[in-house]
Amino acid sequence: MQMYVNLDYRQHNWRLGFHLQAPTGWLSDPNGLCQFNGEYHIFHQYAPRWPWAGHGWGHWTTRDLIHWEFHRGAIIPEMELDKNGSYSGSAVIRDGEMWCYYTGNVLEPGHDNYDYEGRQANETLVISKDGRTFGDRQLVLDNSGYPAYCSRHVRDPKVWWQNDTWNMLLGARTMDDHPAMLLYQSPDGVNDWKLAGSCTTISGKPFGYMWECPNIVTLGGREFFFVCPQGVPSQMTKFQNNFNSGYFPVGGTVIDLLSGDKGLMDAKAPYGCIDEDTFVELDYGFDFYAPQVFTDEQGRQILVGWMGLPDIELQYQVPTYEWLHTLTWLRELSLNDAGNICQWPLPEYDALHGACVDLTPEGAIDNVGKLGSSNYDAHDIEGAIGARFANGTCDLYLEGIEGEGRILLNADLELAVIGNMIELSFKGIAGGYRTVRRLPFSELSAGKLESLRMVVDTSAVEIYVNGGEHTMSTRWWPQEITNLRVSSTFKAAKSYAYEMSFFDFGDIC
Ligand code: FRU
Repeated sequence: MQMYVNLDYRQHNWRLGFHLQAPTGWLSDPNGLCQFNGEYHIFHQYAPRWPWAGHGWGHWTTRDLIHWEFHRGAIIPEMELDKNGSYSGSAVIRDGEMWCYYTGNVLEPGHDNYDYEGRQANETLVISKDGRTFGDRQLVLDNSGYPAYCSRHVRDPKVWWQNDTWNMLLGARTMDDHPAMLLYQSPDGVNDWKLAGSCTTISGKPFGYMWECPNIVTLGGREFFFVCPQGVPSQMTKFQNNFNSGYFPVGGTVIDLLSGDKGLMDAKAPYGCIDEDTFVELDYGFDFYAPQVFTDEQGRQILVGWMGLPDIELQYQVPTYEWLHTLTWLRELSLNDAGNICQWPLPEYDALHGACVDLTPEGAIDNVGKLGSSNYDAHDIEGAIGARFANGTCDLYLEGIEGEGRILLNADLELAVIGNMIELSFKGIAGGYRTVRRLPFSELSAGKLESLRMVVDTSAVEIYVNGGEHTMSTRWWPQEITNLRVSSTFKAAKSYAYEMSFFDFGDIC
């Protein structure tokens, strides 16, 4: 396999070995995820000239999740209807074609507040017959089709076929800053998109001020309604990031639930039918947002998340100056015995595994370093087991964990069990300005930490807790990236890690 990654460049700029990254510029929400004629298509929000505006859809393809081709901008803002951004959306495969729906964002001149006026949200369809070139853009729904209670924030079409009709969910914010989701239906996916339902919280209390990036997932015969609430106040162990992602388990179907809206276009407010107390957060790390779910040709339901967050750009800009952000690995969704959604990396990634290394007491000897100018000895790792990995990468497994303990990645990032809490914390500047994220045992159906998988890639760590019942997805900027030191004080039945080889990124890095 030919490797194009330039290690020198990675060293200075924390570039990744087996996560997607743009050569330059901004990458955010996964968009239009699908498998088309055997090939996986991963689109994402992409601003190649960031910090200058111009968000469109970047585009990657792969057949095996190891060899990737980057096609740069697939859908880029180039028309009146999306001149200020080809925003997020979804894809459906129908009649041998890929139908991509997205929101064309237009800011009208002469306004200084685009929340409640001066913005068009143009739901737009563009069709690709070959998965490489994209046809004419068609406007399918615009501001005139949204109920009067909506602010100018309406976006992120999720389109799917159910009940013999095409359905579209749109995230929205109301004029009085409540979140909403709108359901539209069309007989052919192009014409006559009509409002067919809506929702907000049952209590009428705002659960955030806007819900973005909807998804519908069916597992074990049950439907799960995925949303990304913006602006839910942070608590010690909940909603710890500025924006959050998760799901409501729904009794019955989302379509039936939302179509209880009898007022529709004349209603004064969206229909209160979602019990916000049932919301399950997907990820407890520092960097996770706007996940999208699709079904591949094998019928696997697969989630990809953005390992980043909006509106805190400065935290990310400093470490990786010319490029920003990455996506999670493709994660298959399943239900565990407790009925909770689990996420787990697709087995295709195992092809990256090199030698399997046991974590041993010998391997932990000298597994120390310096943190800034202070001695790493400040962290007591007596009794640790450990190993070192070249290239700053490994895929680490701890199985059959008992009791308290901690894992350290270099002297920078620590995952510790303290009492009934999992704490992920930065020990210094490797976290930008971030400090700690907490996952309480009460969120785990086993009531304790049983297993951990940590996929460590230079400046990205995906942590899968208890078979992926929760994840903690996090960027970090270790001071030393060519040599990853892993040390653990956990008592576990098995502690091992694989050396990793890298994606073939084609010629982009
Ligand atoms: C989520 C989001 C979407 C929007 C896109 C614009 O991160 O705000 O709602 O479509 O980003 O880039």
